[in-house]
Amino acid sequence: MGKLRLGVLASGRGSNLQSIIDAAREGWIEALAAVVISDNRSAFALERARRGGIPAVFIDPGAFSGREEYESAVVEVLRGHGVELVCLAGYMRLVGRVMLNAFPGRILNIHPALLPAFPGLHGQRQAWEYGVKFSGCTVHFVDEGVDTGPIIIQAVVPVFDEDTPDTLAARILEQEHRIYPEAIRLFSTGRLKIAGRRVLIEKE
Ligand code: GAR
Repeated sequence: MGKLRLGVLASGRGSNLQSIIDAAREGWIEALAAVVISDNRSAFALERARRGGIPAVFIDPGAFSGREEYESAVVEVLRGHGVELVCLAGYMRLVGRVMLNAFPGRILNIHPALLPAFPGLHGQRQAWEYGVKFSGCTVHFVDEGVDTGPIIIQAVVPVFDEDTPDTLAARILEQEHRIYPEAIRLFSTGRLKIAGRRVLIEKE
């Protein structure tokens, strides 16, 4: 079986992208990053892709008349690189029906909180402000809602009295870098089965 071709969408520094690139390089996942796309020209994620010899594409949302036109351009690039699984990695945009229809059940996202708690922006800060004693991160399939799709893996971290939103975010990020490649590994080996809201993981 060939390697699963990933298309990674990232808006910022791209540390999750890097964890995926590294896991693929090390042969820990049977996948390769076929293209990295950003909606932000100066995203460090694009630089990481270039350094890794991966096609890096900036697509300017401002150059399109609406979300559907913008997403059609994104889908065209993904298809052009033979992408089979789309991984959102710090992609700060809602995904609409053009992308969902093009990749049904084939878009993953990582969120820095234990969903369904604290969806949307700044999940780490929301959790810290709320005063929870545990938070974490979630990899889930993407649907039409905001961070509402079926959950694949979660990791839990404690919140300490001395924490700031930044120290909590750093603890969560360490777990993100572990569970995102793990979720891709499970997907690429055909072990994820969606049953309604639940994602069942078949035993090896
Ligand atoms: C990560 O913490 C990711 O979970 C979060 O953005 C950060 C991106 O970091 N994503 C969201 O908040 C999505 N709503 P990275 O660019 O270093 O991977």
